[in-house]
Amino acid sequence: MHRHDSLVTLQAHILEQQSRFPQASGTLSWVLSALSISAKIIANHVRRARLDDVLGSVGNENIQGEQQQKLDVIANEVLLRTLGKREGVAVVASEENEEPVMLRQVGDGKYCVLFDPLDGSSNLDVCGGVGTIFSILRYDNPAHSENGWLQAGAKQVAAGYVLYGSSTVLVMSIGMGVDMFVLDPAIGAFVRVAEQLQIPQHNKSYSLNEGNRLTFPIGYNRYLDWAQANGYSSRYVGAMVADIHRILLKGGVFMYPPTKKAPHGKLRLMYEANPMAMLIEQAGGKAMASPDQRILDVNPTAIHQRVPVIMGSAAEVDHVLIHLTTQG
Ligand code: AHG
Ligand code: MN
Ligand code: MN
Repeated sequence: MHRHDSLVTLQAHILEQQSRFPQASGTLSWVLSALSISAKIIANHVRRARLDDVLGSVGNENIQGEQQQKLDVIANEVLLRTLGKREGVAVVASEENEEPVMLRQVGDGKYCVLFDPLDGSSNLDVCGGVGTIFSILRYDNPAHSENGWLQAGAKQVAAGYVLYGSSTVLVMSIGMGVDMFVLDPAIGAFVRVAEQLQIPQHNKSYSLNEGNRLTFPIGYNRYLDWAQANGYSSRYVGAMVADIHRILLKGGVFMYPPTKKAPHGKLRLMYEANPMAMLIEQAGGKAMASPDQRILDVNPTAIHQRVPVIMGSAAEVDHVLIHLTTQG
C-alpha cells in the first residue's frame, strides 16, 4: 500500500461493498459495524487488562469444561451488548454461552452471529496475542426456525477475526475475497491496509501442538517425520487467531488433529473452524477436517461441536492429507 493511496476505513469499505448489491438493505453492514465497535472496545480491555487487574480466571468453567478467564466474560458481554441492539440480528451464539441467545423472532431478524469472544485467552496473562472470531449466517428461512443456526459453513455470508497483537488487526470476508484492516488508535477507526489477500501456496512451516504427538492418529506422525526430514519449521502460538493470521500472510499449514483427550480435535466447528475455513478458502487456500471432508461442508448437529482442522496453503495441506491416506 502506498502512502498516497486514499484512506479507506472499514466503514467506507463496507458501504463500498454494499453498493455493489443495489438490492442490499444494509442490514449486514449494520451487523458488521457492531462487530467493529465490539472489537475496539475489546481491544481497549485487552490493552488495559493488567492495569485494570482483570487477568486470570473467574473460577468458573464454561460449557466446554474450560476455565473462563475474566476477559472471556468481559469480551462476551461486550459482543452481546453491542449486537443485542442491532435489529438485523436474530440469534447470537457464543463459546461462552451454553445455548444460543434468541434476540428476535424469525422474520424480524435476518442473521445469526456466532463468535468466540476471546480466542487463546490463556495467552493473556503473558501478554501474548489473543483474538475474536466471528461467523455470520442467514436466519430468514422459516424452515430453519428450530436450531436455524445449524448450517454448514459453506452457507456463511461473512466471517472474520480480530487479532489483538502488537497492533489490532481485523481480517474479514463477505464472500468476495479477504480484506485486512488495522485499528489506528489515534483516530479510533479500522483502516484498510490490504485487499484481496492471497495465501502463499507454499511455505515449509507447520503449526500444531506437538506435545500431543503420541496420541495423534498415525498419519499425522508420518507427516511430521516427513516434514522434519525435509527442512520444515515449527511455529505455534497456541492461539488460533494468531497462528492463522501468520499462515494467511506467510503460508504454511495449521492443524488441530484428534487426540486421546479430544477425539474430534479441540476446535469448535461453528465459531472457530468454519469462519477460519471461509477466510482461508477465500484467500485461495484449503481447509479440511480429513482427507475427504472439507470443513465448510460439515453438517453441524450441535452448536459447540468440535472438528479436526487442517488448513492453510493448498500445497501444504495436501502434504498432510497424503500422509493421512497413504502408508509409508
Ligand atoms: P479458547 O481460548 O477460545 O478456548 O481457544 C483456545 C484454542 C485455540 O485458540 C488454540 O489454537 C488451541 O486452543 C490451543 O490448544 P492447545 O493448548 O491444546 O494446543
Ligand atoms: Mn478459541
Ligand atoms: Mn475463547
